[in-house]
Amino acid sequence: MCGIVGYIGHREAYPIVTKGLRRLEYRGYDSAGVMLYNEKGINLCKTKGKVSDLEKKAKAELDTKGTIGIGHTRWATHGVPNDVNSHPHLSNSGNLAIIHNGIIENYAPLKEELKNRGYTFKSDTDTEVLVNLIEEIQKTEKTKLGKAVQIALNQVVGAYAIAVFDIKNPEEIVAARLGSPLAIGIGENEYFIASDATPFIEYTSNAVYLEDGEMANIRLHKPIKIRKIKDDSLVTPTVQELQLNLEQIEKGGYDHFMMKEIYEQPNVIKDTYRGRLNANKGIVQMAGIEDNIEKFLNAERILIVACGTSWHAGLVAEYVIEEFARIPVEVEYASEFRYRNPIINKKDVVIAISQSGETADTMAAIKLAKENGAFVFGVCNVVGSSISRESHAGAYTHAGPEIGVASTKAFTTQITVLTMLALRLAKAKGTLSNSDYHRYLMELEIIPEKVKEVLSTNDITKEIALKFKDSTNCLYLGRGYNFPVALEGALKLKEISYIHAEGYPAAEMKHGPIALIDEQMPVIVIAPKQGHYDKIVSNIQEIKSRSGKIIAVVTKGDTQVRELSDYVIEIPETSDALSPLITTIPLQLLSYHIAVLRGCNVDQPRNLAKSVTVE
Ligand code: M6R
Repeated sequence: MCGIVGYIGHREAYPIVTKGLRRLEYRGYDSAGVMLYNEKGINLCKTKGKVSDLEKKAKAELDTKGTIGIGHTRWATHGVPNDVNSHPHLSNSGNLAIIHNGIIENYAPLKEELKNRGYTFKSDTDTEVLVNLIEEIQKTEKTKLGKAVQIALNQVVGAYAIAVFDIKNPEEIVAARLGSPLAIGIGENEYFIASDATPFIEYTSNAVYLEDGEMANIRLHKPIKIRKIKDDSLVTPTVQELQLNLEQIEKGGYDHFMMKEIYEQPNVIKDTYRGRLNANKGIVQMAGIEDNIEKFLNAERILIVACGTSWHAGLVAEYVIEEFARIPVEVEYASEFRYRNPIINKKDVVIAISQSGETADTMAAIKLAKENGAFVFGVCNVVGSSISRESHAGAYTHAGPEIGVASTKAFTTQITVLTMLALRLAKAKGTLSNSDYHRYLMELEIIPEKVKEVLSTNDITKEIALKFKDSTNCLYLGRGYNFPVALEGALKLKEISYIHAEGYPAAEMKHGPIALIDEQMPVIVIAPKQGHYDKIVSNIQEIKSRSGKIIAVVTKGDTQVRELSDYVIEIPETSDALSPLITTIPLQLLSYHIAVLRGCNVDQPRNLAKSVTVE
């Protein structure tokens, strides 16, 4: 979704803002723009396309001088991606400039009213309505920018993170948020504003994260002032020390963030269980669980809400929690859950899984769960994110920044946390035998080594990718624990290579998808030795009899599936329950190589946003 960056201080704003926009490219966008202020006034440059297009255009036509500036990457909602609809937007007088991430849902009646008062609109955006509403309030109420922003925001319905600049008071930027993230970096006589902390990490490690419903007056040489939009009450800013470093948000020698993140998995899985798992001592514990273990043990069921890849991790969790801890689990798309009037009981535990911690639907689902008295446990990657703060308790995945739009390390670390949760609950309930409990702990501890081993199949995967790069369709099949992995493999291929792909429980194939199979159809089958091996061998035979091309992920040394398959990728032996942590790796690599061979933008696939902050 859109990214916003702002700077006010003593340095040249343009390089800070454009570099910041590059850092936010991962969020997904289709146009970009920047506004700078200097003694000549407001200078604006906007374009459809990438930040590099913006920089080219700016070189030709923008006065880049100025120590105050705002910039934006736009992911189109209202109005097609074009230069005019790009942000920043100016008010009719040209005095106010705004950048906005979110959606103003009641923009249409507000626009009508403003039109009746003589306002004209250049763009199709809801944001241009908001900036003119602020201007109108400034005029009618004779107020300064901050007050006008506050009154305007009390009239709008929707979600926003905004930064507004007023030429009449050029030593201030007013920022506000509701439903979309906004961080303020605090330096020496300078402030940074951004959708996340990555744009300002090299300048300061002190940041304030605005809470939903808060706004900030950010003034040069003055402390930042935060107040509640609704009732004007002042809030004491909480300055956090950032744990991010530059290395984490750079490619580190890889061609793409996605590949870097795939290769980080052995280390980040270790980071996820570090201090929480000690196989020798038979310990698995996470603070968020220990403090609330009774809630889990008394739960009649666990509801999992999530979207996309996180939802797939939720499905794996359903299998593992039910098997280990014998607690009923239901997994819901957050977007459906929030609107379908679900039955939620006070004795329910709701687990919200989200890499970004900002996904609008997941956020709304947990608000609904809380309103109905359920206990909400967040599994997030981004520290301090909205979902992590909105949850009663939770566990971070500690995967580090995931920049590639396609989730990779987020998925495996989410599964790691959820498997530890299942083991912890099983221990408390006595639902696993002592020997199984210890065996799983031991196995989990050595999973990073096995992931490393699977990464060495990269060359084979690349060769397979070469054969199938021109496919138009692809089927992914798995059973049991590896059914969610099939879904995840298909999602990875779809989102970065634009090849249509479907994931299916292998046995379901006979109920429809088998009709698709011919000699053109690649079928990727996850067929490790553990689990339902014989059943999946039969499924493979069914594909073979219909001339489908079989690419199988098999346990090292397998001969039976190898004989039936066109290509095999070998993985080390692992128990069924932990196999998703291993089987998913070749599928990530396969989609990566296919996308690269097709010349696709792997890290920023078309139309996609890293964190989906609108519904
Ligand atoms: O940040 P979240 O985990 O809440 O994001 C959920 C989905 O938007 C996300 O997993 C999406 O499906 C990814 N692009 C998949 O690779």
